Amino acid sequence: MDFTRRRFLSVAAAGAALPWVHVPAARATVHTQVLQTGVSRQQLVPANYPDTEVWSFNDTVPGPLLRVRQGDTLRVTLKNALPQATTVHWHGIRLPNAMDGVPHLTQAPVQQGGEFRYEFALPDAGTYWYHPHERSQEQVARGLYGALIVEEREPPVVDRDVTWVLSDWRLNRDATSVQDYDGNMMDMTHAGRIGNTVTINGRFTPIGGEFPVRAGERIRLRLVNAAAARIFKLQFDSHKPQVIALDGHPVAPHVVSEGVTLGPGMRADLMIDCMGRPGERFVVSDVFYPRELRVMEFVYGDTPLRAKPLDAPVALPPNPLSEPDVASAQRHEIVFQGGAMGRLREAEYNGARVSLQQLVREHGMAWTINGVARKGHVHERMLTLKRGGHYVFAMDNDTAWHHPIHIHGIAFRVISRNGKPTQYREWADTALMAPRERVEIAFVADNPGDWMFHCHILSHQSGGMMTAIRIV
Ligand code: C2O
Ligand code: CU
Repeated sequence: MDFTRRRFLSVAAAGAALPWVHVPAARATVHTQVLQTGVSRQQLVPANYPDTEVWSFNDTVPGPLLRVRQGDTLRVTLKNALPQATTVHWHGIRLPNAMDGVPHLTQAPVQQGGEFRYEFALPDAGTYWYHPHERSQEQVARGLYGALIVEEREPPVVDRDVTWVLSDWRLNRDATSVQDYDGNMMDMTHAGRIGNTVTINGRFTPIGGEFPVRAGERIRLRLVNAAAARIFKLQFDSHKPQVIALDGHPVAPHVVSEGVTLGPGMRADLMIDCMGRPGERFVVSDVFYPRELRVMEFVYGDTPLRAKPLDAPVALPPNPLSEPDVASAQRHEIVFQGGAMGRLREAEYNGARVSLQQLVREHGMAWTINGVARKGHVHERMLTLKRGGHYVFAMDNDTAWHHPIHIHGIAFRVISRNGKPTQYREWADTALMAPRERVEIAFVADNPGDWMFHCHILSHQSGGMMTAIRIV
């Protein structure tokens, strides 16, 4: 058990049921937590460098790891001590619209010195995360994010349950500060603001990135990509992790030998049977970009735990999601355009036609969804969907860049890529689209409200690739 978990549980116990009072299993627990944003310092890089000024929840990056059980209620008081307004968005959680943490759309931004109370039940088990939705290209890049784990009522048997919050930073030369989070046109029109320093759980990884394991150990490894723009593709050397959940939701367990790919915002739960020998070391590397990065090293201790892999099922129980009927679903075509080396010539912005050059030079934007570039969180809804209706979004990435496309408030099935049915029809809240790729998703619009629909490369989002849909 790690420190943040222990601290969180004791706070939860103090705030809700007393530990010695018997709570019937059917009655859900209320977990209370304070999240205080502020400016703090953290040693991200090796100790021969100075520490870095970060923005954090409760003075740590990542923020506290929140751990609750499926069906429980989370009650979080946000206290804002940042020099600007903020909110907390609970990425992937199917919650009531008013708790979604989108400034102006679902709540007033929480000003410096202000507070807001979030309270919602957790309908789905899985790996989720939280981050601000106000100026997120800056606030997330400076360190405001944390993991939210919702445990199954009957979790699979493992020896250890471990969370890696992956992120990256663009640090200045002496690592004292985070650079450049605003207004770099080169980043905005290309792959987004990719950093120069990768961290796992807030620590620079290639140095001191040792992950001790034991032979025979079974680890559930939860990966969260909290980076503002960086895509990860992790390989585990000769280990063959089974993917058991994507974006929190169970998927038929399967081995991906070419690596686990996560766009910003996305999560994966892996089941890893550590079958190396005592003393052996295995490098975990990120191979998404041409320059391979070592992000961690599995280091086997001297005493094996068991000789053969654990003989226990790895599949997770399904979450209570409504199954979309693809045949009768209403279809919507959604085209993403813009950016460098794209075909976009002009766009609609604020009700006017503007050229791509004007969009970039005068408004600092470069991206559109169905021809419209949008800024901020309040604008005409792109679509109004009927509550309980079944929908297919046929999404077309008509750009030269990757885009992790995220929808709030619901989960969807990824049903096809470039016209070919996907093998696992995985549930997701964020779909990574490769350049020129066509992806179809299907879902039941069962959660009423106004929900953001945007690219999770945060400078693409602020650069126009954002809209909202309404479910009524
Ligand atoms: Cu993780 Cu709209 O965001
Ligand atoms: Cu994008």
